[in-house]
Order: sequence, then structure tokens, then C-alpha cells
Amino acid sequence: MILNQSFSNPDGNNLLWEIPQLSEVEINSYLHFAQRIILEVGGLIREGYYRHKEIASKDGRELVTSADIASEKFLHSQILATYPDHKILSEELSDSQGTDVENLWVIDPLDGTNNFAHGFPFFAISIAFIYRGNLVLGVVHDPLREEIFWATSLSDAYLNGEKIVVSSAKNLSESIIATGFPYDLAPDTENNLNYFIDFSYASQGLRRAGSAALDLCYVAASRLDGFWELKLRPWDMAAGTLIVKKAGGIVTDFDGKPWRLNSDRIVAANPEIHSQMLSIINKK
Ligand code: IPD
Ligand code: CA
Ligand code: CA
Repeated sequence: MILNQSFSNPDGNNLLWEIPQLSEVEINSYLHFAQRIILEVGGLIREGYYRHKEIASKDGRELVTSADIASEKFLHSQILATYPDHKILSEELSDSQGTDVENLWVIDPLDGTNNFAHGFPFFAISIAFIYRGNLVLGVVHDPLREEIFWATSLSDAYLNGEKIVVSSAKNLSESIIATGFPYDLAPDTENNLNYFIDFSYASQGLRRAGSAALDLCYVAASRLDGFWELKLRPWDMAAGTLIVKKAGGIVTDFDGKPWRLNSDRIVAANPEIHSQMLSIINKK
């Protein structure tokens, strides 16, 4: 999949955070659509979790289940039935090779597939919508806890209808933070273990729960003070980054540059913790 294109918006600014040229009514209509389909597919995934699961291995460590495929097929069919000219960037069955399109849905049909397959109850569905390179909305749903996190470019961030904000932690040494590991952990030495050791010393606790989309939402809801990871894909992060930002957090790559759809490294936290995390990553 080609992800190294620029995501130009009309003023030539490649950042995702510009005010989009959609009205509030239009954005809310996309939001309600995304909320409806994510809750519907969440019900299917929840049912599948308690039944026999068909699990296949993509390349040894990385799994795909019948639920990943069923969820993605359902989301594709709903999006294309409602918005036939829209494009979809997604994990298993993407119809979009590029991202420089007018209307782009970025979806992870099941984030936390390893957890789902092993019966560890921490996984989610993630849906983001990008209009002319601008991240317009993000919705993440945890079907087991019946939690739905969302934000739009014109709103605050919410969890089940309640406004959420990032934590007010001031010191990394008193913070709980999260990360994850890439599937090519063993063959590639760029595997996050170095940062994991550094943050183990620097923080009050680390969690590796196994769903980057939920990790980001937990930062937004101040259940975590920060999150970092590398080698992630757009569908792992797109919705969660907007939710963190609209909850008052900062989301960048490891260089401190604003997060973009083709950034595969991410640091998300409240402003105080974010700068301390960047210092650890860059050993300042
Ligand atoms: C994975 C999860 C995990 C992260 C991996 C991702 P998947 O997504 O977000 O937390 O550490 O890097 O690939 O494969 O379960 O959709
Ligand atoms: Ca994922
Ligand atoms: Ca997935």
C-alpha cells in the first residue's frame, strides 16, 4: 500500500488539523453515520468473541480472524452503499491505494486482533473520516465495555456522551503510560524494546494492553497519561489521534512534528507529559 503521498489540502498546508470546508451539519451527519455502523458492527464482534473463532496467521505472529474480515466487509458495504464515491483505507480489504482523495474513510475493523483471538478482553473498532486531507471525525468503540469514544474537528471529545479531557499529570515519574510492539519484533532490532526499558525507569508504570486505538482513547479519557508506539499504520491511529487532540492532548511523531496520516511513530499525551516523553525518546 502506498502511503508516502502528501495529503494536500487547498491552501497547500499538509497538516491534518486545519478547519475543514464542511459545515457542522455535514460533519454531524457523517458522525451519526459512523456511530451507527460502529455500534452495529460492535454487536457482531461481541457475538463472535463468545463463539468459536476462525483464526489464521498472516505471517507467523500476526493473526487475522473471521471477525476482522466480517467486520471490514460490513463497514465497507455500509460506507459504499451510503457514499458510493468515497474511498476506504483499511487493514484487510482496502480499496484505496492512496490517501490524496477527497473523501477518505480510514478504518480498523478490529484493533487488538491478538487479544480477540486469545480471549483477552481488550479490542475495538476504529473509524476516521478525512475530507480533503483534514481529519474530520474519529470514533472508537469497545464492544465489550460498551464504550464509544468520539470527536469531530468542531467538537470536544466524548465518551458515551460525557466530555473527556486528558490527565493533569505533571511528572512522567508519577505517570502511567502505554505502548505496543510491532509484529516483526524478533527479526527487526527497531522493535521498541529500547524505549520500553527507558520508559520503565522513567514512569510510574507501563501497560501493553494490545489495542493502539483504545490506548489513544484512554489517554484522551485520562485513564493513561501518555502513549507512544512505532511502526503503526494509519487505521490504528487516525481516529484516536483526533480524540486525544480534542481532549486537550498533543499528538506528534518522535521528532515533535504534528502527527500526520503517514507518520508511523506516535507520541500522545497531555502537554506536560508529552514534552517529557519526547525528551526520553530523543535522550535529551
Ligand atoms: C495492533 C494493535 C497493537 C499494536 C500493533 C497493531 P491489530 O493492531 O493496535 O496494540 O501494538 O502494532 O498492529 O493488528 O490488532 O489491528
Ligand atoms: Ca490495528
Ligand atoms: Ca486490525
